[in-house]
Amino acid sequence: MSEINLQIDGKKVIASEGMTILDAARSAGVSIPTLCDHEKLHPYGACRVCTVEADAHERTSLLAACQHPVEEGLVVRTRTEQVDKIRKVLLEQMLAHAPDSEQINELAKIYGADRDRFEKESNFCILCGLCVRYCAEIKQKHAIGFFDRGAKREIAFIPEIALRECWDCKECFPLCPTSALQAAYVLTEALAAPPTAPKSCGGCKG
Ligand code: FES
Repeated sequence: MSEINLQIDGKKVIASEGMTILDAARSAGVSIPTLCDHEKLHPYGACRVCTVEADAHERTSLLAACQHPVEEGLVVRTRTEQVDKIRKVLLEQMLAHAPDSEQINELAKIYGADRDRFEKESNFCILCGLCVRYCAEIKQKHAIGFFDRGAKREIAFIPEIALRECWDCKECFPLCPTSALQAAYVLTEALAAPPTAPKSCGGCKG
């Protein structure tokens, strides 16, 4: 595998072909925030909090570090005014959905995100897709998926599969940066549970 030389925050970094900017940054001890990245899953590029600024081919671009592969001579900056501003707005939008998420609040402190900038949304999901991808790629069960489009897009369990596969798995629960996933599962179980049959009374007649 060929070596690729790049620069991250002024540090010379030697990466291998096939690595992403995020991989290279981690290998050099440079921290980049992430919310939808998982070492075992294919990069998905949903949250964009890993956005960095990079110079390549005489252009400066904003790139998702978790998706963009390293390139020879790439010059990456992980904290610039523009990068911080993008992360701040993204976090503010996420806080409208998940105001109590510990992970998002921790990042919000770093980037000065305002919890109340956007009107609160009733859906707690930030659509990071970690649960959907974990269930499909690792467990190969496809018990949870995305439904609808645009502002109506949401995750939901597929009751027929979830009730069969999830009760003794639930490995996706700790991946969720918000409480949306557990809530969705509880709702699925509740909706699918057959109404409790009245207990028969042995001694009663008629
Ligand atoms: Fe890169 Fe979410 S971690 S887009």
